[in-house]
Amino acid sequence: MTVHSSVGAVTQVVLLSDAQRENLPSTTPMANHRIPSFMAADLVIQLSCTLKTKPDRGSFGFGTVFTDHMLTIEWSETEGWQAPLIKPFGDLSLHPACSSLHYGIQLFEGLKAYRGDGDRLRLFRPMLNMNRMAAAAKRACLPAFDQSELLECIRRLIEIDQDWVPRSDSASLYIRPTLISTEPTLGVKKPSRALLYVILSQVGSYFDNEAEAISLWADPKYTRAWKGGTGDCKMGGNYGSALFAQYEAVDYGCQQVLWLYGEDHQITEAGTMNIFLHWINEDGEEELATPPLDGLILPGITRQSILELTRKWDEFKVTERFLTMGQLCSALKQQQVKEIFGSGTACVICPIGHVTYQGKSLKIPCQGENSTLTSRIAKELTDIQYGRTVSDWTFLV
Ligand SMILES: Cc1ncc(COP(=O)(O)O)c(C=O)c1O
Repeated sequence: MTVHSSVGAVTQVVLLSDAQRENLPSTTPMANHRIPSFMAADLVIQLSCTLKTKPDRGSFGFGTVFTDHMLTIEWSETEGWQAPLIKPFGDLSLHPACSSLHYGIQLFEGLKAYRGDGDRLRLFRPMLNMNRMAAAAKRACLPAFDQSELLECIRRLIEIDQDWVPRSDSASLYIRPTLISTEPTLGVKKPSRALLYVILSQVGSYFDNEAEAISLWADPKYTRAWKGGTGDCKMGGNYGSALFAQYEAVDYGCQQVLWLYGEDHQITEAGTMNIFLHWINEDGEEELATPPLDGLILPGITRQSILELTRKWDEFKVTERFLTMGQLCSALKQQQVKEIFGSGTACVICPIGHVTYQGKSLKIPCQGENSTLTSRIAKELTDIQYGRTVSDWTFLV
């Protein structure tokens, strides 16, 4: 085991390179320091004295093994953001009345660092995660921050724990930024204190057998999200409240829930993935369709990338549109469905093989390994993530 000597509180900052700045979407408030924010330039680093033993290759699981360090940044209404701190990974100490525990005033993000070509570490479109996190913070009445400053702090954390990024094409380092209210009182009110923290965890594949198509259970009695709600934010409450239905899906022999909405049983999401239907539509056109961002749908980074990628191919119609179970059932009957798949950071693309709905098991055509579409999308995206294809979607650590 390697032993690091503690260097105490050291301030170390690496500013973004020009290439990395260019990589950011034009909407990024790069130099917008009018947002009262912590600054990466104030980063304080306390290295761990003892480094943990890393698990054997191939035994990563999902989110069970954490790295040596974490990032924490405290905020209070009176003092604003404190200096960001990278310190040894450890427990949090929270007041028992803390309103994130009682009222779920919190949110999180999920992205990955990939070790790829040239042994370089890469993130995939991380500013989109930072921007989604900032939008959720606003909705949760949690404090605003400068997204590019957070990204730079995360980059430093990954750089410090870089040996934890697996040397494997099927594994990566999962990054979990989290923002919680630490308001220590029981009133339901806007937090006067908050904590932003980031932890890192080695991950393998999300599903037990990644190549296999999964089965979904669709029952309109449960709803994941609703108009005017927070389904478009990564807030913990959306996930905790979905668990009961998830276990019912398993009782019915399925792996995930197909979330429906409304009288017409609109298809919204699959488990914690966005959903795509590749079919010949009612007008006889080949179409790749996914539900629109109407407030119910989590605006997935993978979803956005698949839309942008396939629109660029310009080979078939690519649409954000409402889809109902009725439309799916009649398209299946007429053999017009080519494929259905879920998308997300955890799995990239996950083919869907069965849907259980109103007592029937609907078999979804699945092209498997030979599918031109799912395997082509998966290959193009993972080639970018692992650096086999040069892309401005790549952010070098
Ligand atoms: C509900 C939900 N939908 C979709 C996604 C996919 O989003 P992304 O592609 O950004 O991972 C996630 C990811 O966590 C999710 O939680």
